[in-house]
Amino acid sequence: MRADKWFANSGFGSRSEVKEFFRKGRVCLNGKTLSDPGISLSEEDISNLTFDGQPVLLSSHLYFILNKPDGYLTAMTDDRLPCVGDLLPGNLKNKKISPVGRLDYHTTGLLILTNDGELSHRLTSPRWHQEKVYLVTYKGEPLTEKEVRLFSSGMTLTEDGHKPEKLKPAVLSLLSDSLCRLTLTEGKTHQVKRMLAATGRSVIGLHRERIGCLKLDPNQKEGELLALSGQQLDLLLKSLEMK
Ligand code: URA
Repeated sequence: MRADKWFANSGFGSRSEVKEFFRKGRVCLNGKTLSDPGISLSEEDISNLTFDGQPVLLSSHLYFILNKPDGYLTAMTDDRLPCVGDLLPGNLKNKKISPVGRLDYHTTGLLILTNDGELSHRLTSPRWHQEKVYLVTYKGEPLTEKEVRLFSSGMTLTEDGHKPEKLKPAVLSLLSDSLCRLTLTEGKTHQVKRMLAATGRSVIGLHRERIGCLKLDPNQKEGELLALSGQQLDLLLKSLEMK
């Protein structure tokens, strides 16, 4: 198969974006830069390719990290509002890719997109308790050690009109008078906002930094979609007992 076609089909970008990667020397075969996007690749060649120095992923499924921008719904299509599906290039639109879990409209940061249903299920299932790490900007009195203890003991949310909900222990790190980091091992709807609301604070900025072993690369721009490297996927599959 032509190299540019293989990269485009594997989710690296459109054919013209892929050609640009070759021009910039980001693709190597057996350690040597490949500059011709039209070169024909054998199966063996493909297993020896690297992109930005990382072995490429050999899988029938597609896996991405999106740095979700503010003002996007976590949905593939929507009639009224911008949604993360709008950020996928055309060549990925009919590959049955969907987001894993949900970030609120204004929440930014790491969102996994894939067409691997089993991986999606395990990442969101409490059974594999994958950590989700959020940077939270909040309004109200500075959080204290009291809330650190409350969150770590596994608090119970008691909200008007709802049954009390017992949460799993969560790790709260105090960073400044209006900034904290919160690590959860479950993903209940609006969980961070509800936990902060239960302490009388309100969330004014929310950014997801990590899910399990996948960390958002600080160089990944908002709205940018990056394919997982072979190494990242390997670690992820192992952590979910899929390998
Ligand atoms: N918790 C929230 O309240 N919102 C999110 O988007 C993610 C976690």
